[in-house]
Amino acid sequence: MNRKKFIKICGLNCLGLTCGTLVLESCVGVKFIEGTLNNEFLEIPLSAFEMIENEEIRFRKYIIVQHNNLKYPICVYRNSSTDYVALLMQCTHQGTELQVFGERLQCPAHGSEFTKTGEVQNGPADNNLRTFPVEINGDILKLNLS
Ligand code: FES
Repeated sequence: MNRKKFIKICGLNCLGLTCGTLVLESCVGVKFIEGTLNNEFLEIPLSAFEMIENEEIRFRKYIIVQHNNLKYPICVYRNSSTDYVALLMQCTHQGTELQVFGERLQCPAHGSEFTKTGEVQNGPADNNLRTFPVEINGDILKLNLS
């Protein structure tokens, strides 16, 4: 194998590894759930945040809630057992659906980034994400869509 071919193969392998890591980061552990529409509320069980790890209950940092009546999913972050933040996953630049990467949401169209509270971190988007008030009723989390 000559030097040029070796460098080309190494470069492609590095690119593949980088892309694979990004895909894994975006997919591993992500929980999607279908919410239940109840008047102006989209409801999900709090247990949706639970996962078993090493025989212990742990909590997901976020889940993605979907419903047929919603054009965009809603990302719900769990900060504590009583503190949740619900964000519409619609980029405020030109409306592309956002992707979640841990504690930030990123737009695949032009690269805008938002924090887990919905604030713009990087443009071109100028406006923060739409958020929804959240209520807890027993073991149900209610997102107020009105
Ligand atoms: S549509 Fe999201 S950055 Fe342009």
